[in-house]
Amino acid sequence: MYSEVRTPYSEVRTPFEAPEDPCLGDVVVTGDQLARRVQELGAQITADYADRPPLLVGVLKGAFMIMSDLARAINLPVEIDFMAVASYGTATKSSGVVRIVKDLDTDLSDRDVLVVEDIVDSGLTLSYLRRNLLVRSTKSLEVCALLVKEGQQRVNLGIRYVGFTIPPAFVVGYGLDVSERYRNLAEIRRYEEPLGARQRRSR
Ligand code: IMP
Ligand code: MG
Repeated sequence: MYSEVRTPYSEVRTPFEAPEDPCLGDVVVTGDQLARRVQELGAQITADYADRPPLLVGVLKGAFMIMSDLARAINLPVEIDFMAVASYGTATKSSGVVRIVKDLDTDLSDRDVLVVEDIVDSGLTLSYLRRNLLVRSTKSLEVCALLVKEGQQRVNLGIRYVGFTIPPAFVVGYGLDVSERYRNLAEIRRYEEPLGARQRRSR
């Protein structure tokens, strides 16, 4: 075992700090708040699934960060799998037309499945995923979403575990990107493009 740790991790780590970018705005959720809330969610999931360790299904790419932290906050022998979806639309708005880019390796039949999502905006992606996973004969299917944008969902999605409810602005960090950037920010920040720029790009 490696034992020669002289300096605490908090002193040696050099996190990615928000660069000078006029589009990057206020911090919506701090790194500390994220860390605390993920521990709480982990404790809650540990209690709820005590006798039936779930299969955590992360939705790539955005959920990679919460998946990594949440999995370590759950004190149960969970299993982990990932799927990747692409939704058509502009860089900052999803259309609800979802395509599975990478499917799961795991057979879901008779499994207690807990989907781990980064953010729910319109909820179209999540509704699609729910329908897609439910037909695979899961024993149970619940969702943990780190962020839910307030007032954007037309239907009640029945999300069992919510990290934070945030105002309906575009955000980046802690897994969330704008055109693949800023996923490695330690906090959640607003991101606002000059008008017109977002219509010209597509993801
Ligand atoms: P929905 O289908 O409208 O709920 O959008 C869900 C997906 O769009 C998420 O899984 C993200 O990939 C992406 N998304 C939605 N809002 C944001 C945001 O504010 N920042 C980054 N990605 C977002
Ligand atoms: Mg996503």
